[in-house]
Amino acid sequence: MRLTRIPHAAIASCLFLIGTCVASSADEAVERGRELAERLCANCHLNPGQGEKVGASGIPGFKAVANRPSQTVEGIEAWLRSIPPMMPNHHLTREEISVLAAFVMSLRDRP
Ligand code: HEC
Repeated sequence: MRLTRIPHAAIASCLFLIGTCVASSADEAVERGRELAERLCANCHLNPGQGEKVGASGIPGFKAVANRPSQTVEGIEAWLRSIPPMMPNHHLTREEISVLAAFVMSLRDRP
């Protein structure tokens, strides 16, 4: 149930201008992460039926990444901050890294 919808532009500028004014709720962070992921990462990570990586140069789907037993939001953030050589450098901001990690972890299967 969603009572209010805050325009994404408002959230983006809010995130950009006032570091502490984080997305109004976890839901908003996940939504913003989803939009970014669909734009930047979908070709490689959001294909239908994509599971864990297969072979040395394989690419894991985000759901598989999220479902690793020891996976955490912090782990995904650290990966993105490290600018991994096997991925394009998307020049992500701290906020983008944070919402992307929130989105990826939102795909985790809950028991
Ligand atoms: C050109 C394809 C490509 C794009 C685009 C891409 N990635 Fe990746 N990504 C990879 C590959 C390849 C790996 C696997 C690296 C490995 O484990 O060898 C990977 C792995 C990952 C992992 C898992 C790291 C782990 O623990 O194994 C995360 C998280 C990730 N990418 C996030 C992202 C995000 C977020 C974006 C968009 C901003 C993105 N990727 C865009 C190719 C891509």
